[in-house]
Amino acid sequence: MEVLSKFLGGTLKSTASKCMVLFVTVLILRVLFPPSFPGFDGFEWSNFVYINSHSELGIRQDKFLAVPQLVWGLNNQKIAFARACLTARMLNRTLLMPSFSASLFYKEIDLLQPISFDKVFQFDKFNTLCRGFVRLGYYSDVLNRTEVLEMQKGSGRRWTLERDLSQLKEYSIGSFDDYEVIRIVGKNPFMWHDHWHVKDYARVFECLEVIDEIAQEADRVVSRIREVGKEVIGKTESEELKKSITSDSSSFQPLPYVSVHMRIEIDWMIHCKKLEQRLNTNQICSSKKEIMERVKNIVGLKTPIVVYLAVADKLLNTSSIMEGWGDGFLPFEKKKLAVDGIYKKYPYLIQSAIDYEVCLRADIFVGNSFSTFSSLIVLERTQKMIRTSVTSMCGTDVRWPSYAYNLAGESNGPMRWITNMSDSSLQAISYGTNHISSCKDHILI
Ligand SMILES: *[C@@H]1O[C@H](CO)[C@@H](O)[C@H](O)[C@H]1NC(C)=O
Ligand SMILES: *[C@@H]1O[C@H](CO)[C@@H](O)[C@H](O)[C@H]1NC(C)=O
Ligand SMILES: *[C@@H]1O[C@H](CO)[C@@H](O)[C@H](O)[C@H]1NC(C)=O
Ligand SMILES: *[C@@H]1O[C@H](CO)[C@@H](O)[C@H](O)[C@H]1NC(C)=O
Repeated sequence: MEVLSKFLGGTLKSTASKCMVLFVTVLILRVLFPPSFPGFDGFEWSNFVYINSHSELGIRQDKFLAVPQLVWGLNNQKIAFARACLTARMLNRTLLMPSFSASLFYKEIDLLQPISFDKVFQFDKFNTLCRGFVRLGYYSDVLNRTEVLEMQKGSGRRWTLERDLSQLKEYSIGSFDDYEVIRIVGKNPFMWHDHWHVKDYARVFECLEVIDEIAQEADRVVSRIREVGKEVIGKTESEELKKSITSDSSSFQPLPYVSVHMRIEIDWMIHCKKLEQRLNTNQICSSKKEIMERVKNIVGLKTPIVVYLAVADKLLNTSSIMEGWGDGFLPFEKKKLAVDGIYKKYPYLIQSAIDYEVCLRADIFVGNSFSTFSSLIVLERTQKMIRTSVTSMCGTDVRWPSYAYNLAGESNGPMRWITNMSDSSLQAISYGTNHISSCKDHILI
């Protein structure tokens, strides 16, 4: 804005000229950063409908692709799922509903409790939302299960991106294509080469909605966070504040909360120190103290505010992360909120899915740019911002802002973080980065 007013001749005193600048800024932003995700604004949406109605078949329903079980963290599994979907799309085949893994064992494959897709996400909803783009099917849809073509994914250094791509092309034509089912064998899909744009992944994630039971559990946690915050703030001395809270509740304005995905468990610390060494940087591992400092310095943050700490509590002394936040910050984790009982009912994967929803709905999200969990949340929050067709995603008053605490931003706060939807592969966000698309870059225009 400042750059722009200087550019337009310096002293812009009148309201009219300020409005003019604002208008021009909006126009420039629209041109430079068009909402790039199909289906999110009028123009792209009509394109999408157009594509849909003119290829009624979309994805073939009589040819299938089967993939190995998806493993590791929830978000590794989501990425693996999207990659499997996009592979199936490339082969113009329906993806046979893959199995997720409910537990987080890295090595012992037998302990990876398979859990079917539709125990986590809504199956029909997925196919409705993704119609014409990708399609999921049941194993019972297959007519002849004896006739399956196995497709071995190569591995190692000599299995390049190009070789992988030509294999996919080869299998999408001729006699290979005649098989009703192609089953990919080898590494889990998270480890496959990536041939797709961030936008394609986003399109698949957009179709993933957790089943009602999980959504309801997340609702319970979120309302507990807002409730507890209200109770604590209600006990404060400030009459003015109390008044604002009461008027808030009468207008059904929910109490805002910040969600911090705090990665400080010992196994993460070991991993991230190694990563810092390898990448020759010190911007990956943030200590508890650094995370607190940066969160407290978020520009424009109104206190008192509830801070929900999303942590893998089994691995952590939770009482220590609750200390040292100082005035105006009300830290909570699952135990202190008395919602740990909700989580304990479920295996790891579902617990993670609930936490994901809680972070997704937070008024402000702060995570680590080297975490897949944080990265996917920011991706989805960026999509939410695009959908509300904000003209600038960088203002102080936008909804759904996200930050990376491992990178220093304005006033020693965390760096503003939005996903660059025009990136050509998901690589950057699935393996972590310190080159996040931040608002600093955008303001420079
Ligand atoms: C898949 O095949 C069908 C039938 O041949 C075709 O109409 C459709 O356009 C194809 N879809 C894609 C994504 O290639
Ligand atoms: C399935 O395919 C196999 C191998 O081509 C064939 O022998 C068998 O008759 C088929 N079964 C059915 C039910 O079509
Ligand atoms: C957890 O942290 C608190 C506060 O730093 C400390 O008093 C307590 O001894 C710690 N507990 C364990 C089991 O490490
Ligand atoms: C977003 O990604 C595109 C494609 O890789 C790149 O050209 C552009 O500079 C990126 N934008 C930002 C703000 O990082």
